[in-house]
Amino acid sequence: MAHHLLLHYKEEPFYSIKAREALIGQVLTYGEDVLCSAGFQSERDFMQHGRTNCYTHSICVAYVALRWADFFHADVDRRSLVRGCLLHDYFLYDWHDKAAAGHRHTINHPKIALANAERDFELNDKERDIIRKHMFPLCFPFPKYKESWLITLADKTCAASEIWHLWSLEQVITALDRRIDSLLRT
Ligand SMILES: [Fe+2]
Ligand SMILES: [Fe+2]
Repeated sequence: MAHHLLLHYKEEPFYSIKAREALIGQVLTYGEDVLCSAGFQSERDFMQHGRTNCYTHSICVAYVALRWADFFHADVDRRSLVRGCLLHDYFLYDWHDKAAAGHRHTINHPKIALANAERDFELNDKERDIIRKHMFPLCFPFPKYKESWLITLADKTCAASEIWHLWSLEQVITALDRRIDSLLRT
């Protein structure tokens, strides 16, 4: 299960169980078709940072982006934010494999993720912008929407946590995994 791939040491700090449950519910409500799709499920096979796979990383980014939106009291399109975050690394290959990824993964993967997401899902402009520009400021162009700025923050927060084990989202991942598994069985 995904939580085995997220071996962080500290629990998520300063957040109530009720607030956490609300955000978990939003990830499931807005992202159900993406979460249950064969393409997104295949991200379980591709490692991202540290011991975390792309599937777990993307769910964490969606959850943390909602947390950042709450932190800033930002009035955002939460549906687009969740869906864009879930699909931001939808490049669907192992980037550690240079034969599959090439030598410009950092620059190219947002474009590849967007092309794959356009192929498999209906996207709106905000979702396209979130996916295409999530690597800012490591890659350009500039994000256009508030939602795109939030993912730049959430993606880096999660990457840092996954690489350096700063804090844990294990309870979030376990709860989401259980509910996604039951959705897949229905
Ligand atoms: Fe990325
Ligand atoms: Fe990412």
